Amino acid sequence: MKTQVAIVTGGIKGTGKEIVKQLVDRGVDVVTNFRKDQATADQFLKEFASAKSKVHAFQADLGEEAQVHRLFDYVKEKYGYLNYYIANAAATAFKPLAEIKPHHIQRTFAITVTGFVIGCQRATELMTGQNGKIVAISGYDTHTYLPRHGVLGAAKAALETLVKYFAVELAPYKINVNAVNPGFLATTSTKIYMGEFYESIKKLNEEITPRGHVTDGKEIADVVMFLCSDQANWICGQTIRADGGLSHIQPMALPNH
Ligand SMILES: NC(=O)c1ccc[n+]([C@@H]2O[C@H](COP(=O)([O-])OP(=O)(O)OC[C@H]3O[C@@H](n4cnc5c(N)ncnc54)[C@H](OP(=O)(O)O)[C@@H]3O)[C@@H](O)[C@H]2O)c1
Repeated sequence: MKTQVAIVTGGIKGTGKEIVKQLVDRGVDVVTNFRKDQATADQFLKEFASAKSKVHAFQADLGEEAQVHRLFDYVKEKYGYLNYYIANAAATAFKPLAEIKPHHIQRTFAITVTGFVIGCQRATELMTGQNGKIVAISGYDTHTYLPRHGVLGAAKAALETLVKYFAVELAPYKINVNAVNPGFLATTSTKIYMGEFYESIKKLNEEITPRGHVTDGKEIADVVMFLCSDQANWICGQTIRADGGLSHIQPMALPNH
């Protein structure tokens, strides 16, 4: 049987790495990228050097159109086809909207919106005849207020809309497109974003999340694997909220209130 191939953007750490792990466990070859963290990428490649499938990782800034193409060109040259495209990487300038400059908006949307559109176009070309799956990672800033997340939340809301449109337009090609919307994630970007408040906010999230803990991405990867399976073919253009029930909780629903 032909080896299956995946692109997972931003897969050297956090949720992306959990997705890479689960794909590798299923024998899928993975091509991933990072923006600048070469040290973690080196460690990541060491970790997967003796994995049961091949893992490739290189630097490519997905805010640059040419570098999105470079990622897909790599797969085209090496394999000539693609089975899974997981759009996971995201970045923004975490600032109140009053301090946002046009270049912050441009950069955030370049990664999450323009990069995703180009990625889906290139994936379509490589997924022909492969029954391909595209999964985008959104975020809870689309449906709830998160301080300094205004621009990223807007870009992710646009991403969820693109998922619906691509799902319909690519369905005739047997390519399935969906998204996962996580709540709080205990990952590097959260630590950077929350700084000194990280531990206390993590603890609070553990207390208020109905499932009783937070995830470092494993539970998100579980949902991504389901959406990558043929059992999810009838789910088309949906954003699945995977947050352990966090988004149902209002302060008055907390114990002792
Ligand atoms: N963290 C949360 O609480 C949270 C909640 C809901 C949704 N999400 C979403 O879940 C996804 C994963 O988040 P995470 O917290 O797991 O991320 P993470 O651990 O911070 O990892 C992000 C990865 O994306 C890469 N990346 C960032 N900007 C890039 C760019 N311009 N070009 C190429 N690669 C880029 C990073 O590269 P470097 O390693 O080189 O920096 C890193 O490898 C994101 O889409 C995020 O918006 C996160």
